[in-house]
Amino acid sequence: MAELVGGIGCSHVPAVGAAMDNGKTEESYWAPFFEKLPPAREWMAQTAPDVCIVVYNDHATALDLNLIPTFALGVGESFQPADEGYGPRRVPVVEGAPDLAWHLAESLILDEFDMTLANKMEVDHGLTVPLSVMFGQPQAWPTKVIPLCVNVIQYPPPTAHRCLELGRAIRRALDAWEGPERIAIFGTGGMSHQLQGERVGLINSNFDTEFMNRMIAEPDELATISHTELIREAGSEGIEMVMWMIMRGAMNPEVTEIYRNLHVPTSNTSNGLLILENA
Ligand code: DHB
Ligand code: FE
Repeated sequence: MAELVGGIGCSHVPAVGAAMDNGKTEESYWAPFFEKLPPAREWMAQTAPDVCIVVYNDHATALDLNLIPTFALGVGESFQPADEGYGPRRVPVVEGAPDLAWHLAESLILDEFDMTLANKMEVDHGLTVPLSVMFGQPQAWPTKVIPLCVNVIQYPPPTAHRCLELGRAIRRALDAWEGPERIAIFGTGGMSHQLQGERVGLINSNFDTEFMNRMIAEPDELATISHTELIREAGSEGIEMVMWMIMRGAMNPEVTEIYRNLHVPTSNTSNGLLILENA
């Protein structure tokens, strides 16, 4: 049986990746953010998962309005970093875990979660920035990655409740897998931010803190949150936080908080990082 060794909630702000790629992490704007990361990276290095399931969203990079899968699972051998306008990030190619990914596909679909399957999918900052946050700048990523891409771009995105239940279905699949892998799951995006319209720049760190608290203590109650409330409180792009619920659903009902940081802001975003272990 595979072992689920941790759940990570992590914002995916592109400027964080750019600060690392361009050697700016010690500049005055960035240093206070990066100085808080070492304990999280030490946990990651010690925990050393073989495979990370990274729940993220594509930002009209690999997918656009021609094709809008609600949930797309990457079953390929590898995933190239995408060109988002400045050339691809100079980060390692993301190596997949096709055997486990196909097991997840079978288990989830037969469990009535109708996943889209992606053999080839370039991965944008939604996936690569959380890897950079947690692993730094290695020559090769020290883990295989199963991308799980969620539509939070085009209305209607999945509900927080559907995401929590998908996480639980992922856990059932992992519990039925006979391989020896140590597995971590990331829920990425958020926290509060709005990149467009009249309320551009909105941040609500009180809501973000409550979201983390409730996600840990009462995920089922939190999962009743409507899209309207989530967007009202956390901004139009704050809807990305439904992806943290997939991570939460995969974890045990009781979890231990290992690490938490909320840094406000990086770029336009209230930047959250949360590490959970099964209690
Ligand atoms: C920003 C945050 C995001 O989550 C994103 O996808 C793009 C930009 C930002 O704060 O700049
Ligand atoms: Fe985003």
